Amino acid sequence: MPEPRVRLRIPTIDDVALLDAWHVNIADGIGSFNDFGQPFKSFMKTAEDMRFVEDTHGTLMVERIADGVAIGTVDWRPAMYGPNPESRAWAFGISLAVEGRGQGYGAEAIRLLVEYLFETTSATRIEGSTDIENVASQRALEKAGFTREGVARKAQFRAGKLHDLVLYSRLRDDPAS
Ligand SMILES: CC(C)(COP(=O)(O)OP(=O)(O)OC[C@H]1O[C@@H](n2cnc3c(N)ncnc32)[C@H](O)[C@@H]1OP(=O)(O)O)[C@@H](O)C(=O)NCCC(=O)NCCS
Repeated sequence: MPEPRVRLRIPTIDDVALLDAWHVNIADGIGSFNDFGQPFKSFMKTAEDMRFVEDTHGTLMVERIADGVAIGTVDWRPAMYGPNPESRAWAFGISLAVEGRGQGYGAEAIRLLVEYLFETTSATRIEGSTDIENVASQRALEKAGFTREGVARKAQFRAGKLHDLVLYSRLRDDPAS
């Protein structure tokens, strides 16, 4: 496995301006596949309360190791397949800003997030879903060792219409990618 070019770290109050900018300038920031037309809400309160990583969800910065520049985020939340804690999987998301895209950092960041979640939680399953038209995201998931499970038809409402999502998962026992 080649040396990692990115690392994950907990955001701090110093990251708020950048996080906010990525959510205001969506095309170059979190990306149009993550644009749900939600009202903008600053990350300042989350930063002040140090709530970026909690038991039920989290957000980590993706930082380029070579120059220490933050290029995006990964985040996770529960996907419940039953009411009991054993039925909880993690559903994750990734948003690389425009300067971080197209260089293979996405797969690296996803791989690091998988390691982090399997190390720090008891989950067996981590899942990622992505728009059927988001080929870069599908490739990044596959490069990070995720298995394509199928298509959730018309699952996501975005940009004025319902979109098919491709569902991927990585299990704790899956072979290392
Ligand atoms: C989607 C995202 C995570 C992908 O990560 P990335 O590091 O930028 O991925 P890359 O552009 O390096 O592409 C990964 C692979 O897909 C291929 N690819 C990208 N676009 C493609 C296309 N339109 N057709 C075919 N292959 C494509 C690349 O060639 C690369 O393949 P390779 O590794 O075999 O050379 C990242 O671009 C991102 O965060 N984008 C904005 C937000 C977003 O869309 N998030 C996902 C929402 S579910």
